[in-house]
Amino acid sequence: MTYQDLNTTVDLKKIKFRYTLAKWLTTGSMAAVVLMAMYSLFYPVLQSKLKLHLVTDRNITSSNDSSSPDNFSRRNTTCKFGGNNMIVPSDDSYTPPSPDDTLWQALDYVSDDDFNNYCDRRDLLYGFSDDLHLDGQDCGNWQQDFSRLQQQRLQQLNQLKSWGGLKNKSISKDDIPPFVSYVCQEDPKHRGSHSCGGLADRMSGMISTFFFALLTNRGYLMNWQKGDPTPLESVFEKPTINWSFNPKEMKQLYNSGSQGFQSVNTLNFNWEKIRAAMFPDGPTQDFNELWTAKYVEVKSNRGYIIRTFDHSTRYTNQLSDMGMTKTNSFRCILDYLFRPTSGSRRFINAYKEFFQMESVLSIGLQIRTDDQAMAHPEDDMNTFEMWDYFLTCANDLRNAKRQPHHKRVVYFLLTDSNRLRQEFVSMNTDQTLRDKYIQDDQTSMVVTGLPIEHIEAKTVKTKFDADITALDSDHERLLAGVNSAVIDNWLLSYTDYRLISRQGFGKMAAFHATDPRSTISLPRVDRKERAVDCGNPNSFTTFDTLSTWWSLG
Ligand SMILES: *[C@@H]1O[C@H](CO)[C@@H](O)[C@H](O)[C@H]1NC(C)=O
Ligand SMILES: *[C@@H]1O[C@H](CO)[C@@H](O)[C@H](O)[C@H]1NC(C)=O
Ligand SMILES: *[C@@H]1O[C@H](CO)[C@@H](O)[C@H](O)[C@H]1NC(C)=O
Ligand SMILES: *[C@@H]1O[C@H](CO)[C@@H](O)[C@H](O)[C@H]1NC(C)=O
Ligand SMILES: *[C@@H]1O[C@H](CO)[C@@H](O)[C@H](O)[C@H]1NC(C)=O
Ligand SMILES: *[C@@H]1O[C@H](CO)[C@@H](O)[C@H](O)[C@H]1NC(C)=O
Repeated sequence: MTYQDLNTTVDLKKIKFRYTLAKWLTTGSMAAVVLMAMYSLFYPVLQSKLKLHLVTDRNITSSNDSSSPDNFSRRNTTCKFGGNNMIVPSDDSYTPPSPDDTLWQALDYVSDDDFNNYCDRRDLLYGFSDDLHLDGQDCGNWQQDFSRLQQQRLQQLNQLKSWGGLKNKSISKDDIPPFVSYVCQEDPKHRGSHSCGGLADRMSGMISTFFFALLTNRGYLMNWQKGDPTPLESVFEKPTINWSFNPKEMKQLYNSGSQGFQSVNTLNFNWEKIRAAMFPDGPTQDFNELWTAKYVEVKSNRGYIIRTFDHSTRYTNQLSDMGMTKTNSFRCILDYLFRPTSGSRRFINAYKEFFQMESVLSIGLQIRTDDQAMAHPEDDMNTFEMWDYFLTCANDLRNAKRQPHHKRVVYFLLTDSNRLRQEFVSMNTDQTLRDKYIQDDQTSMVVTGLPIEHIEAKTVKTKFDADITALDSDHERLLAGVNSAVIDNWLLSYTDYRLISRQGFGKMAAFHATDPRSTISLPRVDRKERAVDCGNPNSFTTFDTLSTWWSLG
């Protein structure tokens, strides 16, 4: 496949745009071959528009269910879902499309109580609530203390600014607030292998750097370089602390003398190098002695939180006093620092509240397809003939975990293959396929419906490396792509169980999940015979194991 071939079917601008987003969505630095799916609101929706009788002719008027123990519950017939305006814009941030029809179809099978609660929680103005109900989760007691510290550090920083920064030699050391920041900046000399990577890589770097700030009483700031692909503030709201800053200004303020500014780079470090970087003195390592400048700027796509729990003896008591554990730290830091924008949260809630219903057993499947058939959607040859082991695993897990109160089982698929997704959705109605792969009539297939496109970035990479930033006009589309990746990732963390491809994206969702024993990782398709027995309770992939893999933990 050459660039010329591509050019015949896709215009230049589109390819550039696809490349930028694909670059962002991949783990970026992992391999020379950079391939990924992307989403965009502005492309034709390719998904099949299956019109089931369930949708057009739904029967929700009968509510007597003799087998159900719930007594006076009766389905609220005035409450209906569907149509194209279920997510209403509430501010000027990204607004996703309405949830997919497959969600409404599956909703027909939940218990009346669950259905009515779902209705009651609906936001009359905006379709769905933007409250993800994260309060009251087991997250320890460090949040208020850190918020107070951050506020104090920011005040000190303002003072420092007004005094002209560290160049003003009459400023005493005590008046210089210590900070650590995460920055994602592309190194123009080493594009690709030295970039900060996709969503998962960045989350690893941001959350671990915050963890460092928390243990060293530093203020914490973070920034994504403008245009790579979009400012952090356009993807996430700040639910607690103000982490916005200008890296250039901050550096100027502190860049004086050896103790002012220090740059740290742990991009792409492997297991051994992270140990050497974070624990040069071994388990008793004091993080305060690692990087001693008042302002430390970190570039990283690597996690070391679980590593600290496993390896460090110095922080054991401190972490325990803060109520931090190996399994809650990543999730709690993530929810403390980041909140998807309002429209994304409404979309997320439409699915989240469904996944977490008492009468629903939800299993997420994240299938990152192989690199072969991705240059064009029409070359996409993925089928469940190839990827059957994901469904076999889901079936075994379902049969092991299903309880009598689960009236419906839901398989929720995230994939970069449009063909695979179409085949998946058709299993809702195609009895032959269903018998072959699902082997149960009380299981629904659900997807987000956010558009998918394929790209072979390698082909266009060289050509467009030089003017990536010329894409500012495509900001809207980039915003849709980045927000879709966030929505997908959050949703994968909210299913009861999830089967993931062995890469960063699924791992982030695993770390974000409440239950540390709810994720199973499956091998690549060329090694599918090595897939575990998912009915076996020992098949769950532990955080310890996940933390030894790519981007670590
Ligand atoms: C709805 O359910 C009732 C009672 O089960 C049945 O009599 C009726 O035919 C159903 N209507 C449709 C359109 O399926
Ligand atoms: C529903 O249940 C009530 C009470 O159990 C019964 O009187 C009524 O006939 C039932 N209706 C239908 C349509 O089955
Ligand atoms: C109906 O359900 C409520 C709780 O949902 C329970 O307290 C009550 O005893 C039930 N009544 C009957 C008649 O089963
Ligand atoms: C049914 O749902 C509608 C809309 O969600 C709500 O306004 C109404 O109060 C509900 N009715 C009952 C009886 O719960
Ligand atoms: C230098 O810092 C001192 C406080 O330590 C402040 O009073 C003074 O105004 C600053 N000088 C300038 C030029 O801002
Ligand atoms: C957050 O910090 C940024 C950068 O210092 C500043 O411009 C902004 O006003 C702050 N926002 C709030 C709400 O304090």
